[in-house]
Amino acid sequence: MNIAVIGTGYVGLVTGTCFALKGHKVTCVDVIPEKVEKINKGIPPIYEKDLARMLKEVVEKGNLKATLNISEAVAKSEIIYICVGTPSLPDGSMDYTYVKEAAKGIARELKEANEFKVIVIKSTCVPGTTDEIGKTIIEKESGKKLNVDFGLGMNPEFLREGVAINDFLYPDRVVIGGSNRETQNVIAKCYNEFDAPILFTDNTAAEMIKYASNSFLAMKISFINEMANLAEKFGIDIKDVAKGVGMDHRISDKFLRAGAGFGGSCFPKDVSALYVRSKELDQPSKLLEATLAVNKKQPLRLIELLKKGLENEDIKGKTIGLLGLAFKPDTDDMREAPSLILINKLLEEGVTIKATDPVALENAKKEIAHEKLIYCENMEDAVKETDAVILITEWKEFRDLSAEFFIQKMKNPVVIDGRRAFDYKEFREKGVKILAIGLGK
Ligand code: NAD
Ligand code: UGA
Repeated sequence: MNIAVIGTGYVGLVTGTCFALKGHKVTCVDVIPEKVEKINKGIPPIYEKDLARMLKEVVEKGNLKATLNISEAVAKSEIIYICVGTPSLPDGSMDYTYVKEAAKGIARELKEANEFKVIVIKSTCVPGTTDEIGKTIIEKESGKKLNVDFGLGMNPEFLREGVAINDFLYPDRVVIGGSNRETQNVIAKCYNEFDAPILFTDNTAAEMIKYASNSFLAMKISFINEMANLAEKFGIDIKDVAKGVGMDHRISDKFLRAGAGFGGSCFPKDVSALYVRSKELDQPSKLLEATLAVNKKQPLRLIELLKKGLENEDIKGKTIGLLGLAFKPDTDDMREAPSLILINKLLEEGVTIKATDPVALENAKKEIAHEKLIYCENMEDAVKETDAVILITEWKEFRDLSAEFFIQKMKNPVVIDGRRAFDYKEFREKGVKILAIGLGK
């Protein structure tokens, strides 16, 4: 099939590359010339495991090209995916500016089209948005009729950053919302070569499936974090508790890792958006509200542990090493990273921070700058001569650090483990003072 993908961020570029790998002819569109240029050279503008190799392969084969020209992409494609960002507005609701601009751009090209085309929104949108955009933008701007001249679909994306290619190629399910059966079938054709169950719904249910899934996963994390905070009070280890709870198939052990809270471009914004909408609909969700409230406080728990570790409520003038900046390992994404909440509070308390991350340093520098925030190129520099070290992102290179490493670099090694990355028994035996989320021992 000839497929156009509008927006070449995490979702757009992974979608385009994976469809191209499956033999489709993909044209990716973006508004940023440097991105388009890089993609056409086979270089991904984002960091994502396996993407560089696969993008190079599909570009060299001629199955994927990028362009700034939306007309060219729409004209030659029977299906057009909208994968642009849907960021949060200050009140927590979603900003659909980019989706609307993309829809307008497509609608202008539809005017000239003589064949039935399908427009699919993959961006995450609050229930009702896709159908509204179909009526108020696409029909209006193109002068064409829904389900006669064009079809409108919603195909939510469930990939996780860091394992995005694998998640896209081997999904648990593909949810296909569509304005009619013909539209659903055209979307399903893109997934012909995938071995995954397909669920057909209308557009609004497809939108809600995405929100309910993200909200449930976020709620699971806030739940285990609350249990972890309680476990500390009970003097037990949340890891033992999570293991026992997760052995129940009805619950599962997934997303039960307690830590410094969830971040990223989606959980915080999606849960907020659904919560704001629930209030607008006079059905305020208590669970969504609590999920967000627990998560906002969770990175600050590391400061409580730090003060306990240093046996001092006053941490002004201390130097703290910070391992990790990205919102999770294997990504350079800093959006809503818990590290940002932690850094701001530490700076407020007069601490000097020496922070490092294997790939997110450049993005972090764009997010936050302060004279007392020193970005370090490697972990040796971040750890040496500090009063304590906090781990907030569990990159493999950090998880592999030995107790000896901290003993060699620090005078009195104090480690605060915000992701349960270290073997606390071994660290203690060797003389490192370690405190961790959910560890009440
Ligand atoms: P992103 O910000 O990384 O990328 C969006 C891209 O769209 C950018 O390259 C931007 O330049 C481009 N763009 C903006 N307006 C455009 C226009 N008019 N024409 C062409 N290109 C345009 O976003 P993302 O992380 O890929 O997320 C996209 C959507 O998918 C969001 O709604 C998000 O909630 C959802 N989603 C994201 C993930 C994820 O892991 N990042 C997973 C599932 C769903
Ligand atoms: C998440 C969902 O997992 C995807 O299914 C979804 O498509 C995506 O959001 C989206 O809509 O954008 P992602 O944000 O990439 O994916 O990353 P996750 O692996 O889900 O982690 C999110 C956050 O939760 C991270 O900060 C991570 O550290 C935290 N987390 C995750 C925990 O604290 N504990 C866990 O057990 C799991």
